[in-house]
Amino acid sequence: MTDPAAYFEGLVFIGNIPRDVSAFLTAAGRPGTLAHVRTVAGQARLLAGKFCRANMAQAMKDAAAAAYCHDLAAVVPLAEIVAVAEGWGVALSEADRAIPQVVHGPLAAEVVRRKFEIEDAAILDAIRYHTTLRARAGQLEKVVFVADKLALDPAASNRDFLPDLNAALADGLDAAARVYLRWMVEHGPALGITLHPNLLAAYEELR
Ligand SMILES: [Fe+2]
Ligand SMILES: [Fe+2]
Repeated sequence: MTDPAAYFEGLVFIGNIPRDVSAFLTAAGRPGTLAHVRTVAGQARLLAGKFCRANMAQAMKDAAAAAYCHDLAAVVPLAEIVAVAEGWGVALSEADRAIPQVVHGPLAAEVVRRKFEIEDAAILDAIRYHTTLRARAGQLEKVVFVADKLALDPAASNRDFLPDLNAALADGLDAAARVYLRWMVEHGPALGITLHPNLLAAYEELR
């Protein structure tokens, strides 16, 4: 099934993003994803409160909204996700098509734009680039990126970057992002993970 509308039919915007996302993910049988996005939203609010000193209240609200929405496209199977994203006109690069694991970010941004009528570029970019980050990322992108990595499934193996990531937060968001990016560059390939050009560009910039 590659019709995007069919996957997101159950996502209805009542006006309360946490509630609307919860209802959708629950009906889709994704309690693990829901628990994850709730944790990321909590982390993202904290990080925004700590690091987004200009207009902090709005930044905390936007960070939580982006975090709630960042993994909405987890309901689409990996084998279908490129076709589903292209069905809604999501612009994908060669690398995106070669590494479909990253496509749930750009697809979720398009879902949110269509379903929740959110046009705020900072929120959409935070959702779009949450897997890899990118060079010249905005503050909200870094908040959601780092919050997502702090909240990775505790049952998953290969999370030995977490103590360093937590420690690096004392030095700021860039330092924390750098810890994860370096870990991916050093360990990803041996784990069979192909490094996306956006991740490599973010690392080059922040290293
Ligand atoms: Fe994700
Ligand atoms: Fe996530």
